[in-house]
Amino acid sequence: MRFETLTIHAGQEPDPNNGAVMTPIYQTSTFAQDGVGKARQGYEYVRTKNPTRLALENCVAELEGGGYGLAFASGLAATDTVLRLLNSGAHVLAGNDVYGGTFRLFDKVLRRFGLDFDFVDTTDPESVAEALKPTTGMVWLETPTNPLLSITDIQAVTEVVHAHSNHPLLVVDNTFATPYNQRPLELGADIVVHSMTKYLGGHSDVVGGIAIVKDKLLYEGLAFLQNAVGAVPGPMDCFLVLRGLKTLHVRMDRHAENALALADYLSKHPKVAKVMYPFHASHPQVHVAKRQMRSGSGMVSIIMKDGREVAVRFAEATKIFTLAESLGGVESLIEVPAAMTHLSTAGSQMAVDPGLVRLSVGIEHKDDLLEDVEEALKKA
Ligand SMILES: Cc1ncc(COP(=O)(O)O)c(C=O)c1O
Repeated sequence: MRFETLTIHAGQEPDPNNGAVMTPIYQTSTFAQDGVGKARQGYEYVRTKNPTRLALENCVAELEGGGYGLAFASGLAATDTVLRLLNSGAHVLAGNDVYGGTFRLFDKVLRRFGLDFDFVDTTDPESVAEALKPTTGMVWLETPTNPLLSITDIQAVTEVVHAHSNHPLLVVDNTFATPYNQRPLELGADIVVHSMTKYLGGHSDVVGGIAIVKDKLLYEGLAFLQNAVGAVPGPMDCFLVLRGLKTLHVRMDRHAENALALADYLSKHPKVAKVMYPFHASHPQVHVAKRQMRSGSGMVSIIMKDGREVAVRFAEATKIFTLAESLGGVESLIEVPAAMTHLSTAGSQMAVDPGLVRLSVGIEHKDDLLEDVEEALKKA
């Protein structure tokens, strides 16, 4: 089956009990057993396994071209559990431009448990090669990054990482691209993670995360941790993501079309100093982006010429773009990362430009979005 068919059917079939076409929300914490130690179809306690969650895990696993998916209560819960594959003392090399919440988890929480972190420019595979240590157990990439939309050549970094004698795991946070645009496992990554809160859910009504792997042993290690740590999503949340996924391909095409039009418009605007969009000709890694992604996805970041004040006034003046954190829903959102989503990076090496504005371009009519931005920039 092709991607567009998999989004609707993968991991799902009419319910064997009554033929329900949509996967039921199995709102139960436990399952009756036929005898001591005789669970029906392997279902016992729901932290371990739930049919609604399993349908979602199998669906996203197929979309990513992996064998196994493991869903979590949030993107950060997925990230946290993946990091627990390592032992204290292990070194982790991460991009110096990853999502602020990922940086906070690594730098402020997991460091306390004996993991050693370095943050480097992963857009340059040589910087990655130079920063690897004998103890490196994991390399963490995000591409495109939040909020600067930098692009890392996944295949080039995979080759560097897999040549290392300690065999580090290569993890790619594929939240911004989605599997419709980019499939890191096919480019050599070992693990893909997502905040399902974003494009996979697609409607800003659910928080969730997922990790996808190809390798059975790695899956078993992560499944053990998923159950042992317990940061699992509820069945209603899994149902909402499953429903969102059915339109992923249709939504992503429109997100990309609208975002490219907006990036073009903004790149010519006198109040804008810089536009960041992976498929815009001005992007420094546009060739890598076009090689490994189907489209530029729906996120556009800009730096205002006159800094923070103008950025704030612009973000407060839009009418269709709602001033809010998060991204990836059908509706357009706008925010000022330095004061909102990336506040936790203030004063660190990850601090972002105060004049940066991030737009999550939705699937409304392109001209309404362009007019909204035009009017708001006049007021800014
Ligand atoms: C790229 C990226 N990864 C991970 C996360 C964390 O996901 P969640 O908010 O679902 O915990 C986010 C959230 O914004 C994100 O943008």
